[in-house]
Amino acid sequence: MPAAPPSAELGRLRTRGESLAVLKCLALGGADHTPVVVTSRELGEKIGVSQQAADRYLVALEKRGLVSRSLAQRRQRLLVTAAGMDQLRAEYHSYRRIFEGPAQLSFAGKVVSGLGEGQYYLSQPGYVVQFTERLGYGPYPGTLNVRVTAEALRKIDLVRDWTGIRIDGFQASGRTFGGASCFPARMNGHSCHLIHPDRTHYQDVVEFVAPERLRDALPVKDGDSVTVEIEEP
Ligand code: CDP
Repeated sequence: MPAAPPSAELGRLRTRGESLAVLKCLALGGADHTPVVVTSRELGEKIGVSQQAADRYLVALEKRGLVSRSLAQRRQRLLVTAAGMDQLRAEYHSYRRIFEGPAQLSFAGKVVSGLGEGQYYLSQPGYVVQFTERLGYGPYPGTLNVRVTAEALRKIDLVRDWTGIRIDGFQASGRTFGGASCFPARMNGHSCHLIHPDRTHYQDVVEFVAPERLRDALPVKDGDSVTVEIEEP
């Protein structure tokens, strides 16, 4: 069987793998945080393609907004953009998951009341359908709010990088309802899901959904402490 032409020589980034190889190489050289001088020849040698192919890779990455290039004294300075780093981070999390298993974290907090908006949102058919399909239950209409310390919040913020169960945003009745990611959780040992809205106005509150009213099921009331464990789905 004739060998396929080396994709590198076709001058396009044909696969995500090729793009990641370049981004990884640049980031390892420091271009994750500061522009670095790299010639296409050096880059080509490192990733095993010709200088011309490496040059075309860089043009393609720049077009996609994954790398920014500037010329200084006829030398190109390269920086991996935030979008480029997002791609590398996603790859890193896949490897972390393969070698270390699903990420977990635990924290404590106090039950608090909100403005009663959760009930309104969780009653929207656009959400109910998705929760039922993706979490496997119709949620009790509302979210249980838990206030956490700034330290716990920093920890919880790591879930941004996890692959959650997606709830997509949608339009209904002339308004926009935002998307969110859900993560399997246990609150005082009771199964529920942490819901992490894509956009949130809360600074120190995390929200939970469950098929039943958690205040009755646990049972808890405002001011009670709870411990929560969450796991990457
Ligand atoms: O804004 P707030 O969290 O106070 O209210 P909500 O989201 O509209 O939810 C209505 C009530 O149900 C609140 O008291 C929540 O704490 C509670 N709830 C619950 O106990 N278990 C759930 N799975 C969802 C909400």
